[in-house]
Amino acid sequence: MARIYLSPPHLSGRELDLLRDAVESNWIAPLGPHVEAFERELAGVVGVPHALALSSGTAALHLALIVLGIGPGDEVACASLTFSASANPIHYTGAAPVFVDVDAATWTMDPELLDRALADRPQIRAVVAVDLYGQCCDYDAITAICDRRGIALLQDAAESLGASYRGAPAGGQAAIAAFSFNGNKVITTSGGGMLVSRNADWIAHARKLSTQAREPAPHYEHTEIGFNYRLSNLLAAVGRAQLEVLADRVAARRRVNERYRELLADAPGISFMPEASYGRGNCWLTCILVDPETAGTDRESIRLALEAEDIEARPLWKPMHLQPVFREAPMVGGDVSASLFERGLCLPSGSALTSGDQERIAEILLATRGT
Ligand SMILES: Cc1ncc(COP(=O)(O)O)c(C=O)c1O
Repeated sequence: MARIYLSPPHLSGRELDLLRDAVESNWIAPLGPHVEAFERELAGVVGVPHALALSSGTAALHLALIVLGIGPGDEVACASLTFSASANPIHYTGAAPVFVDVDAATWTMDPELLDRALADRPQIRAVVAVDLYGQCCDYDAITAICDRRGIALLQDAAESLGASYRGAPAGGQAAIAAFSFNGNKVITTSGGGMLVSRNADWIAHARKLSTQAREPAPHYEHTEIGFNYRLSNLLAAVGRAQLEVLADRVAARRRVNERYRELLADAPGISFMPEASYGRGNCWLTCILVDPETAGTDRESIRLALEAEDIEARPLWKPMHLQPVFREAPMVGGDVSASLFERGLCLPSGSALTSGDQERIAEILLATRGT
């Protein structure tokens, strides 16, 4: 039986057509029409006028911080429960992260704790709000807090493409937002990212920085430090084919989530990541919490039992404030994300996962009780 992965790529069938077009037109470099079209189409889906296709979501976050003016001596508040790529770019700029715990009701940044962090630390000049596992943060609350103090808000929407917040597509809630098309995301370019904003100047500046900060001159002229962060025309072709099926992929992931809820409904001690009333998640990954007191099992026993059957499951993100690399960083709160990490498990959630596979996964999971 083939291994079941946590979140493998799911091709639409149109990728080869668009790739063939790129190859046959000799536009495999530099940039090219698929890059421009991918930017336009993604901006349309997100409902934000300006977009910049980049080599990764990490690159998008890095450039976002630079165009917001973040640099040495600054601090940036960031949710603790996330992937390290939300926080690493803060260090790339020479600034330092301040981690903020999440709210147990949404698993995203706790607005009250953010308010406390900003009150205590005037060095904080920007906030990285992370949409976790496809669920948006509470942007009304977070935006009000940031606006009151004139702090820039950056949305890490790497995991939330296709989700919505109060009826609007994820990615338009903050001044600037970053998406990822990494291989495990809802749609993928094999690797890639996108920066989106309503601010044309920021996107123009990021565009220049992403191509080695070349000045408009016939020779290579530079007045600032640049990066090589653009997306290739080949990968943009793949991205366009993937974007065509985004709505289907989100619907499939939501069905996977619903099916797990049905299959595990009667299991004591097993609960699911809550869906906040303000939005609709894309269910990128279905996450459960296992309470060892009442479940008769624990998250690691379940993970190992699945692994023994060649099924990939993974603990939730280990919070950044518990990571050795960030041990010096200040933390506001911390118990919620630490406890979620202790008990949380991401189940296989790919949009091509069959209901037969899901039944098998649930059976293996339930069989760990009392063993
Ligand atoms: C929350 C979050 N931020 C940032 C990233 C970085 O994106 P990329 O892998 O495209 O650099 C990812 C995923 O990989 C992510 O899950």
